[in-house]
Amino acid sequence: MHIYDAKDEQSCFYCRKINEYEKDYPIRKGVFTLDNYVYRCPLHSQYKCSKCGEFHHFNWMYYCPEEKKLFCGSCNPPTLHPVEFFDRTYAYKFKCTICGEEHFDLYFEEYKGTHPFEINQTEALETIISDVKQLPHWKPKQVREGKKISIEDVISKNKLFKDLKNEFHIGSLGIYSEREDIDQINFDDTKNKWEQNAEIWISAYDTMSEQDEGDLNRQLVIDPVLMNLIGDVKGLSILDAGCGNGYLARKLAKLGAKVTGVDFSKNFIDYCKSREEQEKLGCKFFTASLDDLSIFDEESFDLVVSNIVFIDVKNYEQSFSEISRVLKQNGRFIWSNLHPCFGRINQFNMKLPFDNPRNEDKIIIFDRYFDSRAKLISWGKIKPIWQFERTLTEYSKALKNAGFVITEIVEPKPEIEKIQKHPKFLAFEYERAPTFIIFECQKIK
Ligand SMILES: C[S@@+](CC[C@H](N)C(=O)[O-])C[C@H]1O[C@@H](n2cnc3c(N)ncnc32)[C@H](O)[C@@H]1O
Ligand SMILES: [Zn+2]
Ligand SMILES: [Zn+2]
Ligand SMILES: [Zn+2]
Repeated sequence: MHIYDAKDEQSCFYCRKINEYEKDYPIRKGVFTLDNYVYRCPLHSQYKCSKCGEFHHFNWMYYCPEEKKLFCGSCNPPTLHPVEFFDRTYAYKFKCTICGEEHFDLYFEEYKGTHPFEINQTEALETIISDVKQLPHWKPKQVREGKKISIEDVISKNKLFKDLKNEFHIGSLGIYSEREDIDQINFDDTKNKWEQNAEIWISAYDTMSEQDEGDLNRQLVIDPVLMNLIGDVKGLSILDAGCGNGYLARKLAKLGAKVTGVDFSKNFIDYCKSREEQEKLGCKFFTASLDDLSIFDEESFDLVVSNIVFIDVKNYEQSFSEISRVLKQNGRFIWSNLHPCFGRINQFNMKLPFDNPRNEDKIIIFDRYFDSRAKLISWGKIKPIWQFERTLTEYSKALKNAGFVITEIVEPKPEIEKIQKHPKFLAFEYERAPTFIIFECQKIK
């Protein structure tokens, strides 16, 4: 491990890293910025993508020698290429949409000696996009964007530190409240917040998968395990508890089940009903909260499934009781959730520099596990919603009180082929700690 001393505090973070492996590697001077949080030299800073125009970490960029341009991994997602270089065990491999060849991220290209600056410095400097020309004079983002600090900025400096703290704590999640006492949260507010998000959620899902399969977490991590536990559903009467946009209900109906979906958001249910109108799968949908399923008789269903819902359910104990009531004797209740230990909003989750795409550089620390609390959070386009953290003990106790035995617990890990295909999303992420947990329970009383 490299120990900092005052003499080298201006040296580039990445140059120093490489120098540990290649003793004659020159350590360049770096610039320190808040968006990076480490010193970085021009070569190891950010480059501008010729397609989307966004700046990205050099690890997330590749160079096409034919086009003499740089592109990013967000415009052309890479696969994982296992290889040992410097301190790394894999590179990002890009299938070039222009020349058809395979290119690699600029970190690995530098190792191979095929970084644009290594193959032809003058040409690279002259012909690659103007931002690379300016690289020796690389400037922090605020300066690039010509941002000036105003008196309001000075006054809201306090907020900057708060934002920074949030970035340290959870990466892409936005936090909009302190960790509140669960009892103090108004139930109608939890519902209204979902109601307001239904449309946003639906349009986000529609762009995420044409196959109506949910987001990448569902497609790659949760659903393979969930579907495996659920098994053959032909002829079963199933309740999808907290069905949201209804993708799982439709998926199960296509496999031959008679599916009923329930959600407390009317907007979601209206959408599910309109989908059913368009494509008749025999699904029925009802607006109801899981803690009051009185619209259903006792022992109506063979199976109840619930996919990432209980993190959002305030009255979880009463909801388990209601699910138990509507389930037949020995019927199964299979539900996934954010993992109470590792899928937590109070987890310290930090990657330096911040723009670094590689998960293996992430530090994950968990704290305050026993403090079951509520917090308003948002991610992507989703506006703040209430989430409720609970311990495994609390869930296990509530299940027992509702007449369930837990017959299996699975902490899903994606398959190797999926990691290879989605390295930025999956590599060194879900096999370090499970973000999700799936319970199979059986009604015994
Ligand atoms: C994270 S979404 C998951 C939706 C869907 N199961 C899926 O996997 O796409 C959580 C859903 O739970 C619903 N929900 C939260 N609390 C509920 C409650 N008490 N009763 C019924 N639905 C609830 C929300 O409206 C939302 O649709
Ligand atoms: Zn450097
Ligand atoms: Zn791009
Ligand atoms: Zn190319």
